[in-house]
Amino acid sequence: MLIRPETTGDHESIREILIAAFANHPYSHQTEHLIVEGLRAGDALLVSLVAEVDGRVVGQIAFSRVEIGGKDCGWLGLGPIAVLPSHQRQGIGKALVNEGLSAIRSLGAKGCVLVGDPAYYPRFGFRNNPALQMEGVPPEVLFCLPLDGDVPEGTVTHHPAFFVGH
Ligand SMILES: CC(C)(COP(=O)(O)OP(=O)(O)OC[C@H]1O[C@@H](n2cnc3c(N)ncnc32)[C@H](O)[C@@H]1OP(=O)(O)O)[C@@H](O)C(=O)NCCC(=O)NCCS
Repeated sequence: MLIRPETTGDHESIREILIAAFANHPYSHQTEHLIVEGLRAGDALLVSLVAEVDGRVVGQIAFSRVEIGGKDCGWLGLGPIAVLPSHQRQGIGKALVNEGLSAIRSLGAKGCVLVGDPAYYPRFGFRNNPALQMEGVPPEVLFCLPLDGDVPEGTVTHHPAFFVGH
């Protein structure tokens, strides 16, 4: 397995992975491909890594800036992340998260937030934190991982691309 930054030639595969991975996801609006495309178009897709197996792109992870309490605090949002259903549960998601976190650390990110499954993200060090809230999001699925300094206090806001199609 190879984890590497996305290139222009990966855009179509990424779209297909996101559509397939989220097709039956209970909390998804099935707009994750539009989120990534909106971030890319808005020059806001700060980090996008893909996982390649036998020359085929089968997974992707995205990071973009978030505001906390209406300010850029140097924190990033993780998401979406997706692995093709046929390739799930083989450690590809784990490799994408670990490589992604190491990429954003090198960019100097102060921390990372995400909305996700409580069964999955604690293994990477993500925790719930009462200092953070997100509109419409139950606190038990809002996770954060400080990388440098304390967790800021406030409401987390994603890039407008996250709300396309809602
Ligand atoms: C979530 C996702 C990216 C994980 O990728 P993956 O390559 O399957 O994950 P890994 O192989 O690294 O990890 C598998 C482990 O995570 C667990 N796991 C994977 N997805 C999980 C989920 N949605 N809920 C709970 N546990 C999950 C598996 O049980 C397995 O645990 P184990 O190692 O203790 O057996 C992938 O399942 C996916 O694309 N899902 C659909 C889209 C999605 O839900 N994205 C995340 C939105 S928060």
